[in-house]
Amino acid sequence: MKGIILAGGSGSRLSPSTDSISKHLLAVYDKPMIYYPLSVLMLGGITDIMIITTPEDKPRFKDLLGDGSSLGINLNYLEQSDPNGIPEAFILAEDFIGKDDVTLILGDNIFYGQGFTTLFRKALENHRNATIFGYRVKDAHRFGVAEFDHNQKVISLEEKPEQPKSDFAVTGLYIYDYRAVQIAKQLPYSARGELEITDLNKEYLKGSQLDVQLLGRGFAWMDAGTHESLFEASEFVKITQQRQGFKIACLEEIAYYMGYMSQKALKEKGRAMEKTDYGKYLLEIADRKHTEQYWESIDRNPMLGLVENE
Ligand code: TTP
Repeated sequence: MKGIILAGGSGSRLSPSTDSISKHLLAVYDKPMIYYPLSVLMLGGITDIMIITTPEDKPRFKDLLGDGSSLGINLNYLEQSDPNGIPEAFILAEDFIGKDDVTLILGDNIFYGQGFTTLFRKALENHRNATIFGYRVKDAHRFGVAEFDHNQKVISLEEKPEQPKSDFAVTGLYIYDYRAVQIAKQLPYSARGELEITDLNKEYLKGSQLDVQLLGRGFAWMDAGTHESLFEASEFVKITQQRQGFKIACLEEIAYYMGYMSQKALKEKGRAMEKTDYGKYLLEIADRKHTEQYWESIDRNPMLGLVENE
């Protein structure tokens, strides 16, 4: 399974904050926005990841995340010179995808909630053809909307419908087989001059090959594309983290518990940023003070061994 984070776009709704930098590098409370979608892919066990950015921002992403080796993952970068639409990710990443399945996550999407890791891993395991993730919203007319049957097969898909057939929005997380590349290449440009992800999904829908995984009421799904939603997302992260003492989307924590990062490396990273809460948190984890039980409770997947103490 390959992973793609789509972090290009123009971010015009966040101007002037985004006039000289990608929105995906802005902070959502205490860490850059891109940490959140990257954490999702890592929790799913996806280690081969392509980050698609604008040409101007590519060096900044590389500065931040490098080749991923310090997190035990493999990060590569591609440029999208114009925001031609979400499915363009597959055309740009054709060689990277090859004959593999691919998970795409939008760079400004945040997913959080008890059981998310398990649900996502199951979706990856059971995936055939195409899988989307549906989330109930009270203003479905603002989103792509999925209508589905009892077997979670999608019956209809509509982009920003005036009269939504369900309350379930299609989130920015998608799993496809490699055919997505060829399908994307054949899509027409829409009235707004973009390739549309809803059109790509409709191609799978035509062959009854589109499944939906529903994220229940215990989950939070947010995008951080406007000043209002970015602020709300930051507040959500702050409140949740301060209440529980767990950090959301701490990449080193995930890498450590996935077995990708050693305790020694975790401690070194923690010490290097000891003056920050983030650094202190890494040191706490390295001492296994309070997070181990949590990880054991979600971590029933034998592929995830803990790193031995050094
Ligand atoms: P949008 O929020 O639809 O677009 P945007 O990020 O360009 O922002 P704005 O509408 O304020 O101008 O994009 C959703 C996500 O997908 C976001 O993380 C950026 C990414 N994206 C790309 O990387 N390339 C694209 O061509 C498009 C359309 C989106």
